[in-house]
Amino acid sequence: MKVLGIMGSARPDGNTNDLLDVALAAAAAAGAQVEKIMLTDHRVEHIENCRTCVERGRCVHEADDFTSLMAKVYAADAILFASPVYWYSIAGRLKVFLDRWSCEYYRDSYEAFAAKLRPKAMGVITVQEETGVEQARHLIGALEKTVGFARATYLGYVLGPGGKRGSAKANPEAVAAAHDLGRRAATHVPAAN
Ligand SMILES: Cc1cc2nc3c(=O)[nH]c(=O)nc-3n(C[C@H](O)[C@H](O)[C@H](O)COP(=O)(O)O)c2cc1C
Repeated sequence: MKVLGIMGSARPDGNTNDLLDVALAAAAAAGAQVEKIMLTDHRVEHIENCRTCVERGRCVHEADDFTSLMAKVYAADAILFASPVYWYSIAGRLKVFLDRWSCEYYRDSYEAFAAKLRPKAMGVITVQEETGVEQARHLIGALEKTVGFARATYLGYVLGPGGKRGSAKANPEAVAAAHDLGRRAATHVPAAN
């Protein structure tokens, strides 16, 4: 069982990363092999929506890190998307990475793409400075829809407090929810295609 965290915050030592680490540690304790992608450490170009891959079989951005990161996505049994609320939505780094997922099904087909993702479980970790789930509604909703588009199993979301570094890990409820999400990711039984 492989659990992959995808960390989309600008701060590698921020609250998003702290909660993701809690979830990944819980997954490891439950017996999973865990890995984390720090999107700050990688170059992922914006999608061009050029469909060049359909004509030439190659992406115009083949020199960036997208293909190697996507290989990790396909190899994982469970994926935890971690992003702070930025302007009531998904942080740009994660959004740019997800936009490129479209190239995968343009190049192949939606059916081929969904067949690779459908057995997986996917969950969401987010933090915000304001209070109330309403502020995070678009981020959570977009990622929940993305999981549905992939036909994967949705594990739910964790919403913790953000702002000052350390706020989320000082919040017992957020830590417990992240721990539970990680444990459930590790014990997911892959769905049959
Ligand atoms: C560009 C940007 C946009 C933000 N937009 C929101 C927002 O719309 N609502 C909110 O509650 N907090 C917002 N915040 C606050 C962050 O969600 C908060 O600082 C969070 O802790 C950042 O994640 P991190 O701790 O992982 O760095 C924003 C922060 C930044 C940098």
